[in-house]
Amino acid sequence: MVAPALDTRFALAQSELPTAWFNVAPHLATPLDPPLHPATREPVGPDDLAPLFAQELIGQEMSADPWIDIPGEVLDVLRLWRPTPLVRARRLEAALGTPARIYFKDESVSPAGSHKPNSAVPQAFYNAREGIARLATETGAGQWGTALAFACAQYDLECAVYMVRRSFEQKPYRKVIMETWGGSVVPSPIDDPSHPGSLGAAISDAVRDAVGRDDTHYALGSVLNHVLLHQTIIGLEAQQQLANAGETRPDVVIAPCGGGSNLGGVALPFLPDPSVRLLAAEPASCPTLTKGTYSYDFGDTAGLTPLMNMYTLGHDFVPPGIHAGGLRYHGDSPIISKLVHEGRMEAVAHKQRAVFEANVLFARVEGKIPAPEAGHGIASVIQEAADATAKNEERVILFNYCGHGLLDLAAYQEYLAGDLVDEP
Ligand SMILES: Cc1ncc(COP(=O)(O)O)c(C=O)c1O
Repeated sequence: MVAPALDTRFALAQSELPTAWFNVAPHLATPLDPPLHPATREPVGPDDLAPLFAQELIGQEMSADPWIDIPGEVLDVLRLWRPTPLVRARRLEAALGTPARIYFKDESVSPAGSHKPNSAVPQAFYNAREGIARLATETGAGQWGTALAFACAQYDLECAVYMVRRSFEQKPYRKVIMETWGGSVVPSPIDDPSHPGSLGAAISDAVRDAVGRDDTHYALGSVLNHVLLHQTIIGLEAQQQLANAGETRPDVVIAPCGGGSNLGGVALPFLPDPSVRLLAAEPASCPTLTKGTYSYDFGDTAGLTPLMNMYTLGHDFVPPGIHAGGLRYHGDSPIISKLVHEGRMEAVAHKQRAVFEANVLFARVEGKIPAPEAGHGIASVIQEAADATAKNEERVILFNYCGHGLLDLAAYQEYLAGDLVDEP
């Protein structure tokens, strides 16, 4: 039974905030392939990762426990904005004239404006607890860098951010936000000012920084198992909220996919139910899941990281400078890649102009101005709703509204002026 009222927001009490993360590892049909050492090509062990990551995070990366408790000190910070609302997009449904019921999890209400703090906070916490003084990281759109700068401020850590040069130039206010929280930001690649940059190259810069200093660890904003683990708080909250909205389950869960963390976060808790379809939305100009190959590759451009079995476009692939900077990554999460490879998860690609068309429709009917990344999910939602309309189905669609676009207005300006192209 669907909630009869015309309610659009399904909140959770703060006392209902999940206190453990959902680990998907025990639910996979077969174990994940191990990451391989970049030099020896042997499976990496915890000691290989110790120069880069906190012990607790390495443990989570390899854990087979079904649930992992969220430390109280992390919950204290997450409570600044969590639980996030689940919103029924009734006005979008009406605009589309669809019998589908469309819900979105609003991750844009976090301090940094996206889902990224869900992992930044625990990563900063575990590093601070182990005596690390400084974290180095990459950022694409700037969302992860801002999230980590915010998280480091909570636990008195220094934060060094290498920002993909193209985004650094497109989004100057991201830098101001990071500096306001005490972080420092430089454009990447640091050794080639004429290069537009890529996430792979920025990861190389950040890893070099971290291995060069004893007081510094590296933090990755996506891809790795522990990052997806931290993001499962999104899907766990959504399960409770959908029940409050009178739904038994979503028919399909949709999210944009760059490295796979917001998608994993909203979708993985639904994986054990085979009747729930899971769908990744990615850019047509960086089509990792739809056109990449499933093979071992480096996570970065310079080949400093372990090799992971994932969908990849090749670690030297430099994607066109689309505005969805967070989706310009050559690889993908090994968990997401495996699910796509095995057919448990679907993937579709969208061109940039179609994404902005979807975003502008969403903004006009629902009010919120989405991040360019989020628009990939919205474009897929619109396709799903059209399919439900054609088949006259009351399909329940859940998508992750992974971030707002209030710092992406230059992109909107370009679109509204008719100047936006699919492949810059
Ligand atoms: C708003 C937003 N959505 C999505 C992404 C893609 O990352 P992921 O696939 O890890 O969620 C990013 C990455 O920067 C982002 O900033």
